[in-house]
Amino acid sequence: MLRLDKFLANMKVGSRSQVHEIIKAGQVTVNGKVCRSAKQKVKEDAEVLVNGQAVVYQQYHYFLLNKPAGVLSATEDSRQKTVLDLLKDQDRYQKIAPVGRLDKDTTGLLLLTNDGQLAHQLLAPEYHVPKTYYALLAGVADEETAKAIAAGLTLKDGTELKPGQLNILRQDKDQEQSEIEITITEGKYHQVKRMFASQGMKVLKLKRLSMGPLTLPADLAPGSYRPLTEEELAALKQVAL
Ligand code: URA
Repeated sequence: MLRLDKFLANMKVGSRSQVHEIIKAGQVTVNGKVCRSAKQKVKEDAEVLVNGQAVVYQQYHYFLLNKPAGVLSATEDSRQKTVLDLLKDQDRYQKIAPVGRLDKDTTGLLLLTNDGQLAHQLLAPEYHVPKTYYALLAGVADEETAKAIAAGLTLKDGTELKPGQLNILRQDKDQEQSEIEITITEGKYHQVKRMFASQGMKVLKLKRLSMGPLTLPADLAPGSYRPLTEEELAALKQVAL
């Protein structure tokens, strides 16, 4: 149960004061009756109509964003643009936040949600949610690199990493560059960059392609986002069981 004004404001029908106006004006019905009290408690599954239009209460929202470079994976920053600035006003639900972080220069799949419990589970080390990245490297990644990553690297500062999987897409020995895909099951700070640094290589471009059952849609332009489909959400909840 929650107050009618909160129900409507949470569903982005309008600001708290706009919602008060439309309630006072008799434009809202709850289970078939006009309700003029903003304080009226309503159930989440009540039939609420605004000018005859149903407002269905959805507590949690899930968006799949193709993060562009140059944007912070944070909810607010006094100077720099954050991923929340990419959301339309009506999608900026309370407590919506990115699930984990991508570096400012990293692009690709980022989940945004206000479902804190699911977010927490997806990030918890014990769930080992695999994440796959595409990277352009300065350096030639080869079978030795793949073996070292598969064995579990120890970084320069002594951090021990779980085994990862390296898939070499292209090696250019003249230019000393490689294109690879790497799958890891942890999310340590700058992990992919530090993994390749430990192998004497620099990550020039990094893009997240997938996270658990979610994959970056080919037609989702950088900076764009869309709600998860029901199938994607069901698959994601399965991971976090
Ligand atoms: N690893 C990194 O180094 N950076 C990212 O943004 C994600 C994984």
